[in-house]
Amino acid sequence: MIKQQLARFHRLDLLGSTTALEKLERLSSWIGRDIYVKRDDTTPLAMGGNKLRKLEYLAADALAQGADTLITAGAIQSNHVRQTAALAAKLGLGCVALLENPIGTEDPSYLGNGNRLLLELFDAKVELVENLDQADEQLQALAARLRSNGKKPYLVPIGGSNALGALGYVRAGLELAQQIEDSGLEFAAVVLASGSAGTHSGLALALSEVLPQLPVIGVTVSRSDENQRPKVQGLAERTAELLGVTLPDSFNVQLWDEYFAPRYGEPNAGTLAAVKLLASQEGLLLDPVYTGKAMAGLLDGVGRQRFNDGPIIFLHTGGAPALFAYPGAFA
Ligand SMILES: Cc1ncc(COP(=O)(O)O)c(C=O)c1O
Repeated sequence: MIKQQLARFHRLDLLGSTTALEKLERLSSWIGRDIYVKRDDTTPLAMGGNKLRKLEYLAADALAQGADTLITAGAIQSNHVRQTAALAAKLGLGCVALLENPIGTEDPSYLGNGNRLLLELFDAKVELVENLDQADEQLQALAARLRSNGKKPYLVPIGGSNALGALGYVRAGLELAQQIEDSGLEFAAVVLASGSAGTHSGLALALSEVLPQLPVIGVTVSRSDENQRPKVQGLAERTAELLGVTLPDSFNVQLWDEYFAPRYGEPNAGTLAAVKLLASQEGLLLDPVYTGKAMAGLLDGVGRQRFNDGPIIFLHTGGAPALFAYPGAFA
């Protein structure tokens, strides 16, 4: 049902093919549990990551509306803004981004290296703002300003996380379900980082229809369960509505919120240990803001027997360019 409905939506094919589902052999032996990784860090544009899947739908809509500029917002080290700016360059569109400094740092690496450096290469225009507490209104005001200068802006929400963007992860969920079926394995859970929620909502929506027994666990990167839950639930409802389906009975939001402290954009000891472990055991790069926290949750969850029996899938959503913004963390 979801699959047929999804086919009605126009999508730019930016991925080209599926991302791999592969076993992390050394980590699995080390931890005594089979861990697989879905490699959405390898999506083909500008160092990869999860946002390209959302942008396949959002940019198709932007082009259909005749936009000439993509506008969006995020942290100075936002992977979402980096991928949006890269796609704007690829499509010959302008890009304007509102950026905030969520950790109030003056570290020159955070302010100028990593994702922020790449924005310069893509010719994105950057406006620094005090905060993004009213992001939608701030983006609407920017859009109005650009329109008064004769531009045709298209507003990409923070993280690409509206119902249209979440379709990218509905599609990813169907893709992953096929890979799971092909593997012949019975997985215990899928674990991912849950931030602006489009990835979590879309994936969980699709999997609740096609693999209703498979838990999808979102490790929060910035919020308590109480604050994240309505975001994931609400976006899943809006995405189902856009698709014209009802939310399956098996849909439920599972969140682990013990791993994001002290706050968004600031790694803790477990985050750094997870990043280091995956790099040293597997040559696989996680990041200090999202996937390091999600992997720390997965590792701790195995240790505390929070999972059912069976192999576990980690959705690698990218983010490694941000490593260069945190050089001191790994010194
Ligand atoms: C590397 C990485 N992982 C995970 C996420 C979280 O995805 P979402 O915002 O859809 O919850 C992001 C969002 O910016 C990200 O950059």
